Amino acid sequence: MSLRLLVTGAGGRMAQVLLPQLRRRYGPMTLLARSAVEDADADDRVQLADVADLDAVIAAAAGADAILHLAGIADEAPYEKILASNIVGAYNVFEAARRTGVRRVVFASSNHVTGFYRCGERIGVEDAVRPDTHYGASKVYGEALGQLYHDKFGLEVVSLRIGSFRAVPDDHRQLSTWLSHRDGLDLIVRSLETPGVGHLVVYGVSANTRAWWRLGPEAEALGYAPRDDAERFAAQLDGPHPDDSDLRQGGIYVEPGYGGGYW
Ligand SMILES: NC(=O)c1ccc[n+]([C@@H]2O[C@H](COP(=O)([O-])OP(=O)(O)OC[C@H]3O[C@@H](n4cnc5c(N)ncnc54)[C@H](O)[C@@H]3O)[C@@H](O)[C@H]2O)c1
Repeated sequence: MSLRLLVTGAGGRMAQVLLPQLRRRYGPMTLLARSAVEDADADDRVQLADVADLDAVIAAAAGADAILHLAGIADEAPYEKILASNIVGAYNVFEAARRTGVRRVVFASSNHVTGFYRCGERIGVEDAVRPDTHYGASKVYGEALGQLYHDKFGLEVVSLRIGSFRAVPDDHRQLSTWLSHRDGLDLIVRSLETPGVGHLVVYGVSANTRAWWRLGPEAEALGYAPRDDAERFAAQLDGPHPDDSDLRQGGIYVEPGYGGGYW
């Protein structure tokens, strides 16, 4: 399929896994990153920039059909940092899409928009947000921008509440939150290509036996039917699963001192 794609956060962990596959599918891409991208191909257009710089994001978006917006601080951090990278950055990406005529934005949201639900509770995108960090709250803002830019300007937007995108689950929490590389790539490709998506919010999670998040009609609209289940790694992971405790889905992110946000 022919798709002129801008990927932000092109130097990050997810991009490292995704870029070779996306390039195979769509050909050369525009890559936005703060520093040189090791995985860039000679034919890619690399724009070294901060997503907090609107003019630079507009320059990167010019000529693109779609933006895969991965850039941002992917963890809790002091508010000022979250503000620049995740809040201003998200605004700049949606605004650049509007100004340059980009058709679709796929936004890397996070499961931390609902991190304060108890482990073991089954929730879906229709449940109220309960962010566990400034990081999670910044992703709520990004999702809200997606709804706004869809309703007001007709931009097509898919926000993916990514769980834990890993080759294999690292700990017991990830028996619930794991998004395998195979399922994650499939979900992102469907989010980029499925016609007429309008505006969708979808949990990015594999078919885990212990999943906390329902994949409802939004995932069906994308034809997303994950194939991997973290359960096959359960025997290799030590310790009790958090469903058997009073813990919250966000794990350590719910702790007041986590991530240096408050001092
Ligand atoms: N990996 C996961 O399991 C996971 C889970 C939930 C959500 N996400 C989201 O997916 C996205 C990608 O995650 P990742 O694991 O690759 O994270 P990562 O930290 O490895 O990559 C993020 C990239 O964004 C860049 N970045 C940060 N601030 C920037 C700025 N102001 N301007 C330009 N670039 C900036 C960083 O330099 C980094 O290269 C993030 O938005 C993250 O919040 C990831």
